[in-house]
Amino acid sequence: MALKQPKDLALYVHWPWCLSKCPYCDFNSHETALNDQDQDQYRRAILRDLEHYAEQTNGRNLTSVFFGGGTPSLVKPETIHDILEAARTHWDVAPNCEITLEANPTSIEASKFRAFHDAGINRVSVGVQALNDDALQALGREHTTEEALDAIDIAQAIFDRYTFDLIYARPGQGEGDWADELEYALGLTTDHISLYQLSIEPGTDFFRQHIAEAPEDLAADLYQMTQEICEADGLPAYEVSNHARPGAESHHNLSYWKGTDYIGIGPGAHGRISQNGITQATHQISDPARWFGAVQQRGHGTAKVRELNPLERQEELVLTGLRLREGLNGARFEAQTGIALMQVLNTDALDTLCREKLLEQTEIGVRATDQGRLMLNTLIAELLGDIEEPAADDDPFAGFSGGSIN
Ligand SMILES: C[S@@+](CC[C@H](N)C(=O)[O-])C[C@H]1O[C@@H](n2cnc3c(N)ncnc32)[C@H](O)[C@@H]1O
Ligand code: SF4
Repeated sequence: MALKQPKDLALYVHWPWCLSKCPYCDFNSHETALNDQDQDQYRRAILRDLEHYAEQTNGRNLTSVFFGGGTPSLVKPETIHDILEAARTHWDVAPNCEITLEANPTSIEASKFRAFHDAGINRVSVGVQALNDDALQALGREHTTEEALDAIDIAQAIFDRYTFDLIYARPGQGEGDWADELEYALGLTTDHISLYQLSIEPGTDFFRQHIAEAPEDLAADLYQMTQEICEADGLPAYEVSNHARPGAESHHNLSYWKGTDYIGIGPGAHGRISQNGITQATHQISDPARWFGAVQQRGHGTAKVRELNPLERQEELVLTGLRLREGLNGARFEAQTGIALMQVLNTDALDTLCREKLLEQTEIGVRATDQGRLMLNTLIAELLGDIEEPAADDDPFAGFSGGSIN
């Protein structure tokens, strides 16, 4: 079956610098203070790279933009303005295009929220991480609880849409502590919150210090409790770690999980671009200096472009689709791959997993139950047979074992 050319497109822009490197973080983020001149050069490089990808995706509808990091709230608002202006010249920007900036809640960054809004940002995602000072200190954060609360107030006053992130299952955090912190956090939320279990990744300071993740049974209890508290508050999970009132889900998040094409600009960013029925995975050079040098030299920072074979694309869509509460949508899957979902899934395994109440067949396709979403890797291995783990640099969600892109 000939596949229809997808129209919608999301854009991710990565800003890889931070005030300091948090001991748990394995994102492509570096403790570097950029002066105005560095920022300006980097702005020009982003604009050049954007142009390179725009040439391949002319005529598409831009449905969301996400400035992530690293710490994009360190970017000058003028730079954000210029990138958004350029995006408007390259693509048709949907009237309801969601334009999110990830912001750290130091007072200096929060004082820039108005200017970010005026530059075109219509949603902020604030990295609160914890709502007590001891925990913030243990996480190596640059802000206090008071600053986080102020940043939330400012975000609420300026933006129609805001969200914030918390990390739970932290060392020493029991069920009662987390329940109290979560209830308090929900009182500060209007319609969206991201809740990630702390994962300890090789290469981080926490890993070197032999800090352990919460034991499996405690992690499972904390997860279940999180689902119950959020659900009772009207913010069910729409994805493993993301909760929203119905209708307030992040468009950008949904793009990833539903397999919408996206462009990734900036050091280490990934993208997916489908053309003529084939999806290409794009990878940018991770090291910021090397990325910058490549853009200077040849007009783009791409390290690798690889065609996904049909099986890889199908597996990726099953993997991301099952993270969603609504699950896999059979019609969408077929439109994206040209093959019926039930032809891809092992139906014996599906029956067994449904009997075990880990999966459910729905009107639109297949979904994981709350319990099933805790063990997605196992479910997917059974549904698809022994799939190969994507290579780390092929996996757009690497480093997010407990979380997702918020
Ligand atoms: C890449 S970070 C960038 C956000 C911003 N720089 C900040 O730190 O607030 C995106 C989110 O991932 C989550 N995160 C990062 N590392 C994590 C880890 N090891 N375990 C769980 N969540 C993590 C945090 O909640 C963070 O807000
Ligand atoms: S968690 Fe955020 S602020 Fe901390 S190092 Fe990672 S990207 Fe930077």
